[in-house]
This record gives sequence, structure tokens and C-alpha cells, in this order.
Amino acid sequence: SILKETSSNETRVASTPESIKLLIKSGAEVIVEKGAGNEAGYLDAEFISAGAKITERFECLQKGDICLTVRMPSNKDIYKLKTSCILIGMLNPYQNKNLLDDLNKQKITSCCLELLPRISRAQNMDVLSSQSNLAGYRSVIDAAEQYNKVFPMMMTAAGRINPVKVMVLGAGVAGLQAIATARRLGAVVCATDVRLATKEQVESLGAKFIMVEDEESRQAETSGGYAKEMSEEYKRKQSQLLSDTISKQNIVISTALIPGKVAPVLVTPEMVETMSPGSVIVDLAVEAGGNCPLSKIGEIVFYKGVKIIGYD
Ligand code: NAI
Repeated sequence: SILKETSSNETRVASTPESIKLLIKSGAEVIVEKGAGNEAGYLDAEFISAGAKITERFECLQKGDICLTVRMPSNKDIYKLKTSCILIGMLNPYQNKNLLDDLNKQKITSCCLELLPRISRAQNMDVLSSQSNLAGYRSVIDAAEQYNKVFPMMMTAAGRINPVKVMVLGAGVAGLQAIATARRLGAVVCATDVRLATKEQVESLGAKFIMVEDEESRQAETSGGYAKEMSEEYKRKQSQLLSDTISKQNIVISTALIPGKVAPVLVTPEMVETMSPGSVIVDLAVEAGGNCPLSKIGEIVFYKGVKIIGYD
């Protein structure tokens, strides 16, 4: 069964009509909650032509042996799910710890797709990369919309407009896509990360790489390819580097995450105060606590002339 999402601002749906065709081809019967795809642009009629049946929420929760969702259902819904069913989605167990007991009580096997190891064999299930890529792209589009000037350098007989300066914090999947998108729009881009491996990736996209390089940064990457939480001493050095650089930027896009932990604070209110009025910050880590303490989920915060976008 495919559930309609209930979280506010969640416009995605766990399956498209195309993927439902594959499920049906492999022998499954598929039920889709009425209106589940509306906000993602898939009408009930398209699910029906793909071979699915449209049902009410109650039936969808009760009948599915395997339930597909984007986000974790509420605890009320968990108790309506069929006992011993399998629940698959981006269930975010670290932030939904309180619901794990409910899943256990219902004997539900839950698969958190975002925790799948990022090995070659699992690439077609890598929900993090697919969504981070889109988020990185969209962050630049959102920043460009909120920024009152243009991105590329423009020369006319009447004079020159300098290209916008963009800094990307965290050069993982989202950060690299943000760099590529900003470059395509004509920005001058620099980026930072704690993993030295990202230097080559950042430079290959035509951006300048800056980082605090020391003994600790040489071991900042876990065997899984993720960043570790850095020491207080490293954070202090990084903060100095960032405050020197951020003051010169028009746009900052922050994407830094540490799996299972609160996002590191990289852009302090003091740093925001050094940016020129009209500058824009996009905090893509907002749902994990934010890289900027001023960002708010789903909002644009105005702070001393700087716009801080915290879209989820
Ligand atoms: P992420 O979303 O966990 O973090 C984003 C970025 O923030 C990372 O590059 C991380 O190093 C950086 N970061 C964390 N703390 C920071 C701090 N204090 N200051 C500055 N930067 C900080 O990372 P993401 O995008 O999920 O990528 C993690 C790794 O997984 C990368 O090495 C990526 O290339 C790799 N990967 C591998 C795939 C595969 O199929 N083999 C697929 C996708 C990603």
C-alpha cells in the first residue's frame, strides 16, 4: 500500500505510477491512498491506469503487507497498520526515537532507506543522493530568487555588474550540486568541507576549495565516507576561517551533516552580521538542527538585512 503523506510541506509520494507498474509486474497487488500523489503531480487516474486500486486511508493502513511511505507515520497511524507488516520509507529513526517502541509493539519490520549503506550494489535505492542532488540544485534557485541582484557578470555600455559570490559549506552530494548550479548561473564559487577528499571534487567543478587542513582533517572521513564530528580545537580554527570568508560572500549555502547527530553550527549570528545587507543564506541542514542557529524550518528569517532560508 502507498500512503498519502501527512507532514506539513511534504509534497512527495512514495511511489509513482511508473514504479507501481514494476511492483505489479513482479506479482504484487497495489493499493494507493486516495489523493496520495496529488501534490507530486500524479492523479489517482494515473495510478489506476498503472494497475493500482485507490482506497481510503484506513484501508490503506490496514491492508498493506508492505507499506510504502516517504516519512514516518504518526503514532496513531502506526497502531492502525497491519500487525507484522513491513514499513519502508525515510523513517529518520534518530529524530523519531519515540515512535520506535510503537513500531515494536505492532511487530512492524521497518526499513529506513536513508540508512542503506552507500555501496555500488545499493545505488538504485540511494534515496539520500537522489534527494540531496535535488536539494542542492533547488537551494541555488531559491537563493537566486531571494537575492535582489543577478548571478552572472553583466557588461553593458552603462557599466559592469560583478558576478555574485557564493560559498558552499559541506561538499557532499547536495553541496557539489549547489556548486555546479551556482557556477552554471555564473557565480564565483568557493566551498569548504572537513573531508580532504572533497578538494578535488570541488575544484573539478570550477570552485575554489578552502579548509582547515591539519592532522585531524586527514582523518575526518569515516570508512563509510561520511564526516566525523570534529574536536573543539578544530571547530575553533574552522570558525576563524569561515568568519574571514563569509563576510565577503553574497550567498552562503550550508549543507553540512553528520549522520545520526545534530548538524554542526558553522554560521554564527556574529558571522551573519558581517555579511552585506541583501545577502542570502540557505540552510539545507535546517531539519537536523541547522548549520546556522538563526534558521527556522519552513521559513525565511530576516536578520540584520540578511535573508536566511530554512525550507524543509
Ligand atoms: P552528508 O549529507 O552526510 O554531509 C554533507 C557534507 O557535509 C559532507 O561532505 C560532510 O563531509 C560535510 N560536513 C560534515 N561536517 C562538516 C563540518 N563541520 N564542516 C564542513 N563540512 C562538513 O554527506 P553526503 O552528501 O551524504 O555524502 C557523504 C559521502 O558519501 C560522500 O563522500 C559522497 O561522495 C559519498 N557517496 C557515495 C555514494 C556511493 O554510491 N558510493 C553515493 C552518494 C554519496
